Amino acid sequence: MSKRVRGVTAVIGVGLLAIALPLSSARAADGAKLYADNCASCHGDKGQGGGPLNVAASAKTIKGKSDADLAKVIKDGKNTMPPFASLSDDDVKSLVGAIKKMK
Ligand code: HEC
Repeated sequence: MSKRVRGVTAVIGVGLLAIALPLSSARAADGAKLYADNCASCHGDKGQGGGPLNVAASAKTIKGKSDADLAKVIKDGKNTMPPFASLSDDDVKSLVGAIKKMK
């Protein structure tokens, strides 16, 4: 590869990185949106329950559980709750943050 081609490639690479970084961090931080998309159908839009299964994700079930416990429930599911194995660790972390803010 000539020096010039390498230089151009590096510029494009840095440019892509600059675009990708804010996008991915914005996505990972948005636990509330992840919750609305994945969880609200069963747990209600504020974790209050409702929906066909009427389970509250918040209140007593969250209090006293560590972040790791909650992450495990999200990743592995629990009884009739389906597992969300496709969520990244960052997504799960944001989700745990979002549901811990619910009362
Ligand atoms: C298909 C319906 C359904 C969806 C979608 C769902 N859940 Fe659940 N969830 C349940 C049910 C049912 C339980 C009760 C499980 C049990 O204890 O038997 C539960 C329990 C929980 C608990 C309490 C676990 C415990 O150990 O007591 C948390 C926290 C939770 N869900 C979070 C979430 C989050 C976060 C999402 C989105 C990623 C989600 N749920 C999506 C049905 C669902």
